Amino acid sequence: MDNFKLGFIGAGFLAQFQAVALQSVRGVELSGVHALKGAEELAAYANDNGLGECAVYSSVAELCNHCDAVTVFAPNFVRVDLVGQIVEAVKAGAPLKGVICEKPLGRTVAEAKQLVQMAKDGGFPTAYFENQNHMKPITAALAQLAPTIREMGPMTLARSAEEHAGPHEPWFWDPTRQGGGVLSDMACHSIACSWFTLTPPDKPIDFLQPVRVSCETALLKWGLPKYRQDLLDRMGIDYAKTPAEDFTTGIVTFRNPETDQLVKAQFTNSWMYDKQGLRLLMEGLGPDYAFEVNSLQTPVNIFIGDKAAEAVADGELALEKSTASRGLLAVEPNEADLYGYVDELADAVQAFREGRDALMNWDYGLEVTKLCQAAYMAAERRQTLDLTDAAVQKNLDGYTSLIAQGRGAEVLF
Ligand SMILES: NC(=O)c1ccc[n+]([C@@H]2O[C@H](COP(=O)([O-])OP(=O)(O)OC[C@H]3O[C@@H](n4cnc5c(N)ncnc54)[C@H](O)[C@@H]3O)[C@@H](O)[C@H]2O)c1
Repeated sequence: MDNFKLGFIGAGFLAQFQAVALQSVRGVELSGVHALKGAEELAAYANDNGLGECAVYSSVAELCNHCDAVTVFAPNFVRVDLVGQIVEAVKAGAPLKGVICEKPLGRTVAEAKQLVQMAKDGGFPTAYFENQNHMKPITAALAQLAPTIREMGPMTLARSAEEHAGPHEPWFWDPTRQGGGVLSDMACHSIACSWFTLTPPDKPIDFLQPVRVSCETALLKWGLPKYRQDLLDRMGIDYAKTPAEDFTTGIVTFRNPETDQLVKAQFTNSWMYDKQGLRLLMEGLGPDYAFEVNSLQTPVNIFIGDKAAEAVADGELALEKSTASRGLLAVEPNEADLYGYVDELADAVQAFREGRDALMNWDYGLEVTKLCQAAYMAAERRQTLDLTDAAVQKNLDGYTSLIAQGRGAEVLF
């Protein structure tokens, strides 16, 4: 069987991580990259690490004509434009077997709907990349618990948290370009992961029906004068004028359509988690059973004393988003695999080879976008939102959160 040829649009933080992951996926090569910045470096990495003969293409259309599938690994605010270029290329004859899009699918429900429609117009299979649902610790826990769940009944509460000290690029901090703050950026992971965790074995991924959402958004650290200034100096983003939330927590209630049982997904996300680096914390609780995943509980700890830290500049490679380079540090030996990137790539490639959508397609991405936007609306209104109410759904269709409009001061101060 010939290698499957993937092309990356975007060559930044995530694309580089995915290139590392791709080394663990069989039968796939990175055959092309198109990006405003970093394409040459990423192609050199691919060529040096046996990922195939990777070329740099100066347009989306050219890339699409030299690959079996392309990935949209570019910022949220260029999604619609890039997918539009992909659809045009496909209509002009580019032989794509599928298109992958990173989270969040859209910055608003309207944008996510537009992307779903564009994929239908293009007639290609899709993959929505929610890596956490592919994390081996999650899938292993669910496989181990499947007989217990069948015997004792489904999980009733899932908790998911993703927290770190803040993103690496200015556009993430700018709510008008990113689509909000940490809720838009990371609660999409935690909500999807809890939804997935709560889903009974052998049921489709969208089996549980969302019925209610409650949520709070807050600016706990990066609105403090000292940190606001730091953000302005480092990222050029002024949280005195256009603040976004650096903390969110909430609950999504789901209904089992066969039994009417209600189950709860609790999410917590922050950009003010000043500990070792990125932490993923997931829990699932059912009657008389449970599981827990904590990405900071690693088999590898290293210690760097003050003198050693002073001798080696920039030793902060231990963990994604780590901010310390001394003391007791957690190290994950294979982060690309731990976070689920390897398995999501393998799933998408297999699906596209078989001419179908991946485990999660863009319709699923749209549902997750709806839940995130409903959470913003619930936080703004200080109400629990009834998702079964047709009027609420209609409002969501035309909704852009105050924070995403650059009016976060009205909600957060
Ligand atoms: N699943 C995860 O854990 C995870 C982690 C990080 C980022 N992401 C998602 O991945 C996407 C990319 O994030 P990132 O951290 O790599 O961002 P980044 O800013 O580090 O990199 C973005 C890349 O896209 C390129 N780019 C920007 N505009 C472009 C355009 N119009 N055409 C072509 N290329 C363009 C940039 O030059 C750069 O190479 C975002 O949607 C983000 O939400 C997901």
